[in-house]
Amino acid sequence: MSRSNKHASSQSQGITNSSISRRGMIKTLGLSVGLSALPSFMFGAKTEIPMEALDHGERILPVEEKHLLDMQQFIEDCIAANKSSDPQEAVKDVLARAVSDPKVMLNAIGEPKEAGLKVFLRSKDLTIFAATWTPQMNLMPHNHHMWANIGIYTGREDNILWKKQQDGLDAHDVRCLFEGDVATLNTNAIHSVTNPLPRFTGGIHIYGGDFFATERSQWDPETLTEEPSNGDVIRNIFKKANEQMYRLNGHGN
Ligand SMILES: [Fe+2]
Repeated sequence: MSRSNKHASSQSQGITNSSISRRGMIKTLGLSVGLSALPSFMFGAKTEIPMEALDHGERILPVEEKHLLDMQQFIEDCIAANKSSDPQEAVKDVLARAVSDPKVMLNAIGEPKEAGLKVFLRSKDLTIFAATWTPQMNLMPHNHHMWANIGIYTGREDNILWKKQQDGLDAHDVRCLFEGDVATLNTNAIHSVTNPLPRFTGGIHIYGGDFFATERSQWDPETLTEEPSNGDVIRNIFKKANEQMYRLNGHGN
């Protein structure tokens, strides 16, 4: 997000647009589809995506209209950067600028209330979502088969980087990401993620491909045995993390 013009952009491209256009942007994110109402920047990047395809097993959180409008300039900047000769680096620069003032990004995305993914863009060569982790939530080692950039806008996300060995994985590096930090993961990277804080962590995750259409692997956190990435398992991790949070908060959900 170019913070200097983010708000102005929201006003010029969102608020002054017709309500049909605004509904159109939301529709592109999977609630339904209305290509004729898309803003121009979406035409090059979006295709019709039914909710079932977008979900792909992961827990998807609804994106509110206001937050989508606030994120519009950032999404456009990422799409443009992804067309450069070094897309990952150029997108990383956009992301670093966007999270350099984490409160602006937090306001644009919304305060996290549960674990899950808020998807802002899905196209064949770029996926952008906000991933939110409940307090002290963990995610097992997994790969993506595409480059990934992560920028933290609230909380902290500790990444262990793993290397594949003949009989499993070896941990070989760590990235402790605080608010405003950005990490890059290469195409072959395997990482596990922990939120070490007693509060929510939220990060923008950007992938150089269609994250939801790519088969991935995950590794059992205890045995480090490789398994196909299973949407049901991921959905269950988010579900259990949310249930645990509600239990601890005494909400009993
Ligand atoms: Fe990941």
